[in-house]
Amino acid sequence: MAEIGKDIDKARTLLEAGEVVAIPTETVYGLAGNALDVEAVTKIFKVKDRPYFDPLIVHVPDAKAVYQYAANIPHQAVALFEKFWPGPLTVLLEKKNIIPDLVTSGLDRVGLRCPQHPLTTELLQRLPFPLAAPSANPFGYISPTKPEHVNDQLGNKIKYILDGGECKVGIESTIVGFEQGMPVIYRVGGLAVDQIETVIGKVQVKESSSNPQSPGQLQSHYAPRKQMVVGVIPELLQEFSHQTLGVLSFRTMYQSDAIKKQIILSPTGDVEEAAQKFFSSLRELDRSQVDLIIAEEVPAAGLGRAINDRLKRASSKK
Ligand code: TXA
Ligand code: MG
Repeated sequence: MAEIGKDIDKARTLLEAGEVVAIPTETVYGLAGNALDVEAVTKIFKVKDRPYFDPLIVHVPDAKAVYQYAANIPHQAVALFEKFWPGPLTVLLEKKNIIPDLVTSGLDRVGLRCPQHPLTTELLQRLPFPLAAPSANPFGYISPTKPEHVNDQLGNKIKYILDGGECKVGIESTIVGFEQGMPVIYRVGGLAVDQIETVIGKVQVKESSSNPQSPGQLQSHYAPRKQMVVGVIPELLQEFSHQTLGVLSFRTMYQSDAIKKQIILSPTGDVEEAAQKFFSSLRELDRSQVDLIIAEEVPAAGLGRAINDRLKRASSKK
């Protein structure tokens, strides 16, 4: 298993030696490596078993760093990262040559993000290079929001997990890019769409599941190993009453003899709390002794939209 600890210097030394290290962010844990080193980036793809067509986000210590890695930056992008960084926002920008093609899967744009976590901020400040980091889970599986989640699945492939506790936002960053000067959201995430719109006005959301520009939008993603169905829970309880069920509900406690385990995301009906607990709850249900996980959508306001997006993909047939 990997060592879990809070030693920033140890993480730095490993990263400088070309190794990969799991790092905490406010959204989910990342599997980080030197973004400017093709060998380190190759290790990230291998450890995750990630297809090379799925590009990696590059993490920077502050907004100033963007100018080293991107060119022709639209003014709306500047307005966004000045307002929301450090935070759960990734901006797709025209890449400079210093970013290897492997990082962007040959695309012309690089995804840049300045994460908000004191340990990772300090680590990024001490390193002479930015960190490429996808979520620290095997490709297609539920994202990790605690160090133990990373260790459970990737612990035999990596040496060190920088322990930053449980992720505060719990859902991946929102990804924004520009097409003919118009802002487009490619992945709804930890920064709500209306927050973005307060800064740059109306934004188109591309939720198309076969969009090759952002493979995180693949139809099946964030998925448990167990089968999962999303719908109206009282109806699903009737339909699947002959099976043992795990229930993931927003705020209601349901009753049925078929229910073997139930997790309520937020008894007070708070979508931010629900987002924070979402992936760890799904993981817990996936590990429990049930045949089928049934879940319901949450209100689509604020981060609710990102939760519903994950629910849809997590329940999609592989
Ligand atoms: O919150 C987050 O964004 C987390 C933490 C670790 O920062 N990272 C994360 O990475 O969610 P990952 O690799 O699991 O998801 C990144 C998504 C992928 O679906 C990828 O296709 C998309 O971002 N992406 C990255 N670079 C891109 C690019 N140049 N063009 C289009 N899509 C890109
Ligand atoms: Mg991911």
